[in-house]
Amino acid sequence: MQKGRQLANLALVGFMGTGKTSIGRLVAEQLHFRFLDTDELIQTRTGRTIADIFAKDGEPAFRALEKNLVGELAAQTGAVIATGGGLPTNTENLAQLKTYALVVCLWASPEKIWERVRNQSHRPLLHDPDPQKKIRELLALRAPFYRQADVLINTDLRSAREVAQQVALQFKLATRPTR
Ligand code: S3P
Repeated sequence: MQKGRQLANLALVGFMGTGKTSIGRLVAEQLHFRFLDTDELIQTRTGRTIADIFAKDGEPAFRALEKNLVGELAAQTGAVIATGGGLPTNTENLAQLKTYALVVCLWASPEKIWERVRNQSHRPLLHDPDPQKKIRELLALRAPFYRQADVLINTDLRSAREVAQQVALQFKLATRPTR
């Protein structure tokens, strides 16, 4: 861990369906932190769904909203921030997140991800003739970015509660006072 970092927050990154939102809520409870979710914030502020933003304005417009938000969230303290799956693939976003948060990546295999997202329809990137292939391809492209997180936790064989405990523990270890 780099010296002088302000770990006043915890950010969860990772692919769609790795449990960032559900696990983030549990971690926030455990740490007595506020829970924020970048997708939710974008939807509340624009009054539009992410699917609508992608469809009408295109993905680059959504990425610009994400980028602005990452800058703005630097003012937070005591927050668990769940981020959209593509957010850390912009290296500036990842670098900025690291200035104010411990960045924890939730990892899952493509098979597990498919199992978790197959009955959901709100993610525009998975509106594809072959969503399983799309997951494999996107995950392979994004893995180098996700690996730059401070901590990587595999969620395949763990319950949400177990993962949340691991995340909270990692945060406590990273922020414990050094003598
Ligand atoms: C995206 C993931 C989604 C959402 C948008 C794009 C991505 O968030 O930000 O649909 O690029 O992987 P979740 O990871 O919360 O599903």
